[in-house]
Amino acid sequence: MNWETLRDYDALSDRAASMLLDAITADPNLVLGLPTGQTPVGTYDRVVKECKRSYRCFRDVVAFNLDEYVGIARDHPGSYFTFMQQHLFSNVDIDPKNTFIPNGRAPDLKVECERYERLLKNAGGLGLTFLGLGSNGHIAFNEPGTPFESRTHVVALTEATRRANAAFFLDQPVPTHAITMGIATILESRAIVLLASGARKQDAIGRLRSGEISADFPASALWNHANVSVLVDEAAASA
Ligand code: GLP
Repeated sequence: MNWETLRDYDALSDRAASMLLDAITADPNLVLGLPTGQTPVGTYDRVVKECKRSYRCFRDVVAFNLDEYVGIARDHPGSYFTFMQQHLFSNVDIDPKNTFIPNGRAPDLKVECERYERLLKNAGGLGLTFLGLGSNGHIAFNEPGTPFESRTHVVALTEATRRANAAFFLDQPVPTHAITMGIATILESRAIVLLASGARKQDAIGRLRSGEISADFPASALWNHANVSVLVDEAAASA
C-alpha cells in the first residue's frame, strides 16, 4: 500500500484529481470505478474545472459507480445517480451511454446485480477505482462482516448509515437497502485509490494502517491488492 499524507482536504482533492486526470491521459479508454459521499466532491470539482480548460477529457472514458440506493427514483435528490450528474457527469464530456450506476428500482434486484457484474466484465473490468471510507471501515456499501469474496449484491443499510444520509430524504424515509459492488468486484480493479479526510476518519485510518486483515473491517481487504494508494489528510492521519 502506498500511503500519502496531504496537508488538508484541498491538497488531498488536488492530488486525487491529478491522479484521475493523469490516468485518463495515459489511457483515454479508461474504465473508472467511482464513489459518492462528501469526500470525493472536491476531487470532482477539480476534475470538472481542469477538463473545461485542457485537452484532457472523458470522451472515451467509461464509469461505473460503486453503489446505489434501492427503491428510489433516479432523479430523486438523494440518489447517487443525481449526485453523479451534479458533481461530475453533467459537467464533463462523458457519453451518458458510458456511465453505469446500479438500478435500485429494477424489478428483480438479484438479476440487476448479475447484470451489473456482466456489464463490468464486458467493459474489460475496472481500471482505476476511487473509494471513500466509512468511519466503521466500510467501502462502497460493504459493511463490516461482508465476505471478501462478495460480488455485486443487495445490502441492508445500518441505522447509522441511514441517519447519516437523512438530510437527502426529507420527502420519504431513507432507503433501507442498497445495491453495492462487492469487495471481490472492487479488488479486481487494476488500481485503487482510497480517500479519507477529516478527524472522523482517524480511527478507521489507524485501524487500516495497523495491517490487521479481517472481514470486521472491510477496507482491510485492500491489503490483499498489489496496487493501492491511500490518500489521507493530516486530520485523518493523526491518530
Ligand atoms: C457512503 C457511501 C460510501 C462512502 C461513505 C463515506 O456509505 N456508500 O461509498 O465512501 O459513505 O462517505 P463520506 O465520504 O461522506 O464520508
